[in-house]
Amino acid sequence: MFVFFLFFPSMVQMDSIKSGFVGSQVELRCIFINSSPPVKISQVTWQKLLNGTKQNVAIANPALGVSVLPPFKERVSFKQAAVRHRTPSLEDTTIVFSNLQLSDEAAYICEYTTFPAGNRENMVNLTVFARPMTRMTLTTPTIVARAQKRKMTVATCVSANGKPPSVIKWETRLKGEATFQETRNQNGTVTVRSNYVVVPSRETHKQKLTCVVTYRSERITDSVVLNVQYEPEVKIEGFDGNWYLNRQNVQLTCRADANPPVTVYQWKILNGSLSSFPNVEIKNNTLFFKGPVTYDLASTYVCDATNGIGTRTGIVDVNITGRLMTAEQSNTGAAIGGAVGGVALLSLAAILLFVFLRRRQHTFKGDYSTKKHVFGNGYSKAGGLPAHPPIPKNLQYPDDSDDEKKPAQIGGPGGFEASERDFDTEQEDLKRPYFTVDEGESRDYDKRTLAFQYDPEPEIADDMISQTDGSVISKKEWYV
Ligand SMILES: *[C@@H]1O[C@H](CO)[C@@H](O)[C@H](O)[C@H]1NC(C)=O
Ligand SMILES: *[C@@H]1O[C@H](CO)[C@@H](O)[C@H](O)[C@H]1NC(C)=O
Ligand SMILES: *[C@@H]1O[C@H](CO)[C@@H](O)[C@H](O)[C@H]1NC(C)=O
Ligand SMILES: *[C@@H]1O[C@H](CO)[C@@H](O)[C@H](O)[C@H]1NC(C)=O
Ligand SMILES: *[C@@H]1O[C@H](CO)[C@@H](O)[C@H](O)[C@H]1NC(C)=O
Ligand SMILES: *[C@@H]1O[C@H](CO)[C@@H](O)[C@H](O)[C@H]1NC(C)=O
Repeated sequence: MFVFFLFFPSMVQMDSIKSGFVGSQVELRCIFINSSPPVKISQVTWQKLLNGTKQNVAIANPALGVSVLPPFKERVSFKQAAVRHRTPSLEDTTIVFSNLQLSDEAAYICEYTTFPAGNRENMVNLTVFARPMTRMTLTTPTIVARAQKRKMTVATCVSANGKPPSVIKWETRLKGEATFQETRNQNGTVTVRSNYVVVPSRETHKQKLTCVVTYRSERITDSVVLNVQYEPEVKIEGFDGNWYLNRQNVQLTCRADANPPVTVYQWKILNGSLSSFPNVEIKNNTLFFKGPVTYDLASTYVCDATNGIGTRTGIVDVNITGRLMTAEQSNTGAAIGGAVGGVALLSLAAILLFVFLRRRQHTFKGDYSTKKHVFGNGYSKAGGLPAHPPIPKNLQYPDDSDDEKKPAQIGGPGGFEASERDFDTEQEDLKRPYFTVDEGESRDYDKRTLAFQYDPEPEIADDMISQTDGSVISKKEWYV
């Protein structure tokens, strides 16, 4: 019991793993912790363990000195100067590996031979990394978009001879796909290669493509911008659907999106020859029509645009309209048409009313009490009155009348006035040549037009008579 209690076994202290890049230097630590009571170190041996076979690297012997064996002689040394002495101190036998090689990757054993305790050893696993060469290349400096829309590799990203292997990813707005390939080299490094595949087109031109390589914790990026050549994309501008007769200085322009730029524009028309138009002038991609538009210009115009990749065609059908027809004007036209229709309708209504009332007049006795008089206002019909002005409910015919004194402007809207005049020349028995309208009904009129005519008060006295200027005079005055 007592002996056990005092006894500390000797031990060899090492790192369990160690790593370094190819070409770099690495220390493999080995420290002997002696026991109590101490043991005697007879020899220290460093060994490389690979595939189950051991190979001596270096030996230190207290009596015989230090020996580093080939092929390690040039690159391995003991760290402590004391070890290299004639009578070395062997507590710290750390070795330094310089100019690391991939082949140095192995397990290394540091073995202490002691007396009387026997062998004590420990092991470190040395990993050697190889930094890859990473680069991205465009398949060709300029890619040509073919009409067949075939997929092709536009760029390749390679991370060569890395250990451990890199991981490749792509960052781009291009719609494409990536292929990946890994090649393992004899020396344990791996080459990773990825191709980016797209269908080259106008849309892929000038798109940025970035290859992102992750090697251990490092991130390496490389970018290219695609240069895609494509046939012209052609459209003809200038025809607005409103080439009316005698319009001046119309023109057609052939617009082409192309890479490389368009070198030749060619204009022609279907069913005919442009040279038959004496007033046509061609400047680069524009067709100028000098002078007024004629019906002859109606045709199908074709523009062929050519660049280094090919020729594409734009087409426009030009037709000629009889006269200018803007949206605004067609609206106004409709309004005028409506107004004219309204006038005709009102005239008809007035005629019918006159005929009707003329038949009734012998039995009808006028009643002024709740009526107000309506007069012409001088506004044009189309200007402000509603499309369907209320038709007067009551027409009133005073017992006596005088054609000469009849107010000329009576009747309000022109339609009424005209028809009324036609009538009263042939109708001697027409008594009072104006219409009246119920006050309530009058409110439906345009307020601006009628405000001064429909002043609700003062009430026009029963015995007052309206005058052409809108004033009223007493019946007595009127009949003088
Ligand atoms: C180690 O063994 C593997 C197969 O187990 C073999 O491919 C490799 O070449 C061996 N390496 C050495 C250095 O002998
Ligand atoms: C060291 O390498 C050996 C064999 O190559 C392996 O058995 C052992 O697990 C490794 N140790 C560590 C800590 O990686
Ligand atoms: C590993 O092998 C590859 C292919 O033979 C070679 O190009 C590369 O340089 C080697 N790497 C090292 C670190 O020796
Ligand atoms: C163009 O000419 C062809 C025959 O020459 C004819 O069939 C076709 O209707 C013509 N088209 C026009 C728009 O004139
Ligand atoms: C049009 O062509 C003339 C030569 O004919 C050239 O100088 C000019 O730059 C061209 N203009 C355009 C916009 O292509
Ligand atoms: C002119 O052509 C356009 C389409 O190109 C068509 O919508 C329109 O009806 C045509 N007008 C005439 C008057 O032929």
